[in-house]
Amino acid sequence: MIILGIETSCDETAAAIVVDGKKLLASVVSSQINVHKNYGGVVPEIASRKHIEAITYVVKDAINSAQIKIDDINAVAVTQGPGLIGSLLVGFSFAKAFAYARNIPCIQVNHLEGHINSVFLEDNPPCFPFVALLVSGGHTNIYYVKTNTDFELMGQTRDDAAGEAFDKVSKMLGLGYPGGAILGQLAEKGDPYKIHFSRPYLDKDKFDFSFSGIKTAVKRYIETNKDNYQNMIPDIAASFQESVIDVLSYKIINASIQRKCSSLAVVGGVAANKKLRERIISEAKPKSITVHIPSISLCGDNAAMIACTGFYKIQSTPYVDNDINKTYNLDVFSKDTALQKNKLRNCLSPQ
Ligand code: KG4
Ligand code: ZN
Repeated sequence: MIILGIETSCDETAAAIVVDGKKLLASVVSSQINVHKNYGGVVPEIASRKHIEAITYVVKDAINSAQIKIDDINAVAVTQGPGLIGSLLVGFSFAKAFAYARNIPCIQVNHLEGHINSVFLEDNPPCFPFVALLVSGGHTNIYYVKTNTDFELMGQTRDDAAGEAFDKVSKMLGLGYPGGAILGQLAEKGDPYKIHFSRPYLDKDKFDFSFSGIKTAVKRYIETNKDNYQNMIPDIAASFQESVIDVLSYKIINASIQRKCSSLAVVGGVAANKKLRERIISEAKPKSITVHIPSISLCGDNAAMIACTGFYKIQSTPYVDNDINKTYNLDVFSKDTALQKNKLRNCLSPQ
């Protein structure tokens, strides 16, 4: 089964062609970073307009790169949420229209389920059940994964997501946007033990997170040392990163031990962080836990993970309602109000 995946939940317009949920024929991601960096964060209204401009070209590019004909596509899978309302609507409307015109099913996919399934696009995917750490700009969640479509949420952040904390600290240090990757690179040049920022483990046996305290501690450090912190930026970055990684790796290793899982996965944009990848692999090894982390291009937002999840969804629920007149389920949006506010706040002010 050849599935066209479409993802437009935030600031990337993406399309991919995936065969049987695992063979990736093409993955095209058109990023809007250059537009949003002028504002220091994603501006939702601009994001949706940019998706409209890009979507047709991105889908055509994916079909051409996959070297298939449009008639070969058996189904469309599209991100339903969570994400920015206007951005989601662009991908969703395009996918519905495409499916209707070609008389093929349109499968709605949850973005977070997409990230979890991204490890199934790699060779040697994990065996069920396993635990997954989803670390992105909007979420920091731990799941017990029973099948490709059945996940139990074990814990989540109570305030900032880990990626959001990276982005905000990067902004405080004047490193620019998007902050995670820049801060991660700079941290490699700094001393991770130079400054001790607290480790918010909360209840050590449970799996909730809190990152806003570390972020505030960095802010205080900068204020207290305003005359000389500029020379210490790599050390601040490395020390901040170290405290976030300590918590993330502790929690996911503990989750796999508690649930007796011999495999764990790390997915989402922050899973691209070199130090986080190395740390989790090195801590899992002596405990005989196998670690699955997608390649860098599949950590950030992409449509391959959406097409992959669409394949498993259509296997478990073969009936797909393709009624073009049915509008988007607005309940999904209202649940995402907090995320919307966060993105907006993020873009207006770093703290
Ligand atoms: O999954 P993703 O592309 O989008 C969301 O679903 O949010 O994740 C984006 C997040 C951003 O916060 C970005 O700063 C962070 O992932 N990120 C990183 C790195 N690369 C991206 N954070 C830390 N280290 C990185 N190398
Ligand atoms: Zn994402």
